[in-house]
Amino acid sequence: MTPEKDDGFGALKRYIEQNLKIQCSNYKEDYIKRRLLSRMRSTNTSAYDEYLKYLREHEPEHDVLRKALTINVTEFFRDTDVYDLIRKEIFPALFKGRKTIRIWCAGCSTGEEPYSLAMILSDMMAADKSISGQIFATDIDEVVLKKAKDGIYSEKSMGKLSETQMHRHFTKLADGTYQVKPHLQSLIRFRPHDLMSGQPISRFLDMISCRNVTIYFTEKQKDELAKTFYTALVPGGYYVMGKTEYLGREVEGLFIPVNSIQKIYRKKE
Ligand SMILES: C[S@@+](CC[C@H](N)C(=O)[O-])C[C@H]1O[C@@H](n2cnc3c(N)ncnc32)[C@H](O)[C@@H]1O
Repeated sequence: MTPEKDDGFGALKRYIEQNLKIQCSNYKEDYIKRRLLSRMRSTNTSAYDEYLKYLREHEPEHDVLRKALTINVTEFFRDTDVYDLIRKEIFPALFKGRKTIRIWCAGCSTGEEPYSLAMILSDMMAADKSISGQIFATDIDEVVLKKAKDGIYSEKSMGKLSETQMHRHFTKLADGTYQVKPHLQSLIRFRPHDLMSGQPISRFLDMISCRNVTIYFTEKQKDELAKTFYTALVPGGYYVMGKTEYLGREVEGLFIPVNSIQKIYRKKE
């Protein structure tokens, strides 16, 4: 099904921007339209103005649409090779120069990515009591952030974790779910943040992991984001992207590839 007419697309976008606080103009129009179409199918509406009317009259649809626009698929240790490199090379390299490291996990969804980083950090801190770290984990979607803060996961989502990791970092609850232990939670600060705001969450960061977030951004928006990350990192700081993401021409000169397959870069000194 395609909407029979385009009428109301502009009004719908304005409504989304004002009420869901998502800047549609920053995303590719095709992408927004595809996501809207899927919601229109589910709500049995066939034109943008009809869907807007539905949205105004059905408060719960706001959350459903927000979720549809900000797809939050994630998992613990997504792309294990990247985490192997972080464990074996990146964190050890960072700790050569300092005792505390600061990491920004941008677009953290329900928390599996920052908790994966925190597990690596926590294991290193257990082996060397003189080192520590802090992870800032942000997402535009406050619903997923709440789940991330709660840190409770189904048994199914624990698939990639070893017995040791599960035992050391999680408590099994009576209903069969797993809750992140306080020592891991204390390494992370969760906060809402829009990556399109142009403002970094902090500065003097040693590493930024922003993975599988920018796939729906326009080229211009991706370049702006890379510049924001550039200003937020310390010289030599690491930028970890998703495996299908890439640096645009305008910004590739700002970073040096560390591993082009795993999409790990360093800010030029
Ligand atoms: C596919 S998930 C990726 C999660 C995790 N980084 C990973 O790789 O597994 C994308 C996340 O980016 C978030 N996101 C999308 N647009 C954003 C924006 N403008 N600012 C911050 N987060 C955004 C979504 O809410 C979603 O949780």
